[in-house]
Parts: sequence; C-alpha cells; structure tokens
Amino acid sequence: MDRIHIEKGSVQETLIIPLYGRKLCAEQFPTLYQDEYAARICQSIDYDFSKIEAKKNNAMYQFGGLEGAMREKDMIWEITDYLKDHPKAAVVNLGCGLNMTGRMADNGTCHIYNLDFPDVINSRNEIVPAGEREENIACDLNDFSWMDRIDASNGAVLYAAGVFHYFTMQQIKDMVIAMADRFPGGRLVFDAVGKFGRDVLMKGTLKNMGMRDVSGLFFVNSVSDLDGWSSKVKSVTRKSYMQGYYKLEDPNIKGIHRFLAGLCDSIAKMYIYRMEFQLAK
Ligand SMILES: C[S@@+](CC[C@H](N)C(=O)[O-])C[C@H]1O[C@@H](n2cnc3c(N)ncnc32)[C@H](O)[C@@H]1O
Repeated sequence: MDRIHIEKGSVQETLIIPLYGRKLCAEQFPTLYQDEYAARICQSIDYDFSKIEAKKNNAMYQFGGLEGAMREKDMIWEITDYLKDHPKAAVVNLGCGLNMTGRMADNGTCHIYNLDFPDVINSRNEIVPAGEREENIACDLNDFSWMDRIDASNGAVLYAAGVFHYFTMQQIKDMVIAMADRFPGGRLVFDAVGKFGRDVLMKGTLKNMGMRDVSGLFFVNSVSDLDGWSSKVKSVTRKSYMQGYYKLEDPNIKGIHRFLAGLCDSIAKMYIYRMEFQLAK
C-alpha cells in the first residue's frame, strides 16, 4: 500500500499533532499512557515528521504530547462511563482524524461512528478501515444530515477531541441545540480553551490553517457561558483537561510538566466539558 500523503497547511494536517503527540507520549511516559495504534499509523503516513521529531526531548514539546494523550484518556474515561449504563450506545467521534478512541473504549457491544471531512475519512479507510460495529462517515459537521446516520436507539455518547476550536461560537451553539434535540438521554464531551487560550495559544495553530482572525472562534471561560443554549441540555459540568481525570504520574514526568499543567487550568482554562441531554418526555 502507498503511504497516505498529508498536505502541509491543510485541515488534514491538524490531525498530525495529536497523533504524533500520542506516539511520543506512549514512548516517553509509558506508565501513564499506552497506545497500540499511534506509532503504526504514523508509519503509514507520508508526512515529514523530522522537524517535530528533532524536538522530542524538549520539555515543551513533550508537554504537547502529554496534552494529546491526556485528552485521549479523558475521552476514553467519559465513553466508558456512559457505556456502563448504555452498553449498546452509539459512540460518535466528531472530527476523528486518525484517533482510535472508539476502539480503545470498545466494550464489545457499542457501535462506533468516526466522522470527519471526506479526505480524512479516505485516509482513515486506507490506514485503519472500519472494523466490526464501526462506521466511518465522511461529512462536514456543520451539515447536520450526519445526525440521520447515527442509530441512537440505545443511547449516544458524542465526543470531540481538539475539534471545536475550529468552529465559530454560533456553529457550536447550533450543533449543540441540534444534538440535544436529536439525541435525548445522550452525552456530549468536548475540550475547549478560554478566551486567553484561544487568542494566544491557539492563534499559531489556526494561522497555519489560514485562519488569521480568531475573534469569532469558540471558547469557554466558565460553565455559565454555555447556560441557556437549549432547554434539552440537562446539565453542563467540566473537569481539568490535564489533571481532572488522572494524575500526571510517570517516572519521566518533570516539575516543568506539572507546572505547565497548572497553567493550562488557571490561564488557558483548558477543560473537558460534559453536557447531558434530557431524556425524551
Ligand atoms: C486537531 S484534529 C483532531 C483529530 C482527532 N480528534 C484527534 O484527537 O486526534 C481536528 C480534526 O477535526 C476535523 N474537522 C474540523 N472541522 C471539521 C468539520 N467542519 N467537519 C468535519 N471534521 C472537521 C479535521 O479534519 C481534523 O481531523
């Protein structure tokens, strides 16, 4: 099989950073994070990793890897928790890139849906074709017809890892309203940064994608920012992205990593948000 080519500066390229981060993290912090897929997927891609590879011993880059890996662990925690009460639920990976969260949380009875733009789904179909109880759906998440393709009769846990940053506030609000309506009793999980995090930290990443004006893009400073979006949203809660689900414990974790994790909470306001949707009346 020819290796899949990822174009520099394309939307597809945004999936490289978390993917490489998970590979790096599994190599450098093996007691904290294991990933049987990331290294193999990186090998299947025709992408010049040399620049990021050269920086892999830099504590800041290592921290970037930790971010990708902790987010993956947090999402797996939320999916597993939902599946305890809804073992046959739809597990819906919004903006999946080449992550394998669904399979890593698979309980043997759920149905996994991976959604992304057509070029990403084409790559995914080549590199990690859908398995049993798994479907890859090519779509634009802003066109809500993807919701018709999800069988949520046994519940639905929808999650977006590193995805909502690329949407406007209004697009996320519209999507949440539609999801709360379409998936009663469902759960939505996503990561978000606060306004400062968006303006300062995300700006570089978004600029690489040609997004110069970040002012309309999604951020959340506090849970109350999400209040009142839909009467069908039962509750909104959040946990720290880096330390809310698991402790940063591994012999290779340094003080600087813990310090940066603290800044993620206090300054960047990086959190994992969970919305529970009302059951149908
Ligand atoms: C930073 S990557 C994260 C990938 C993956 N969730 C992970 O954790 O590795 C963002 C992903 O969102 C996808 N994406 C962004 N906007 C989208 C849209 N409107 N519709 C579908 N996918 C979108 C991109 O193609 C990309 O794969």
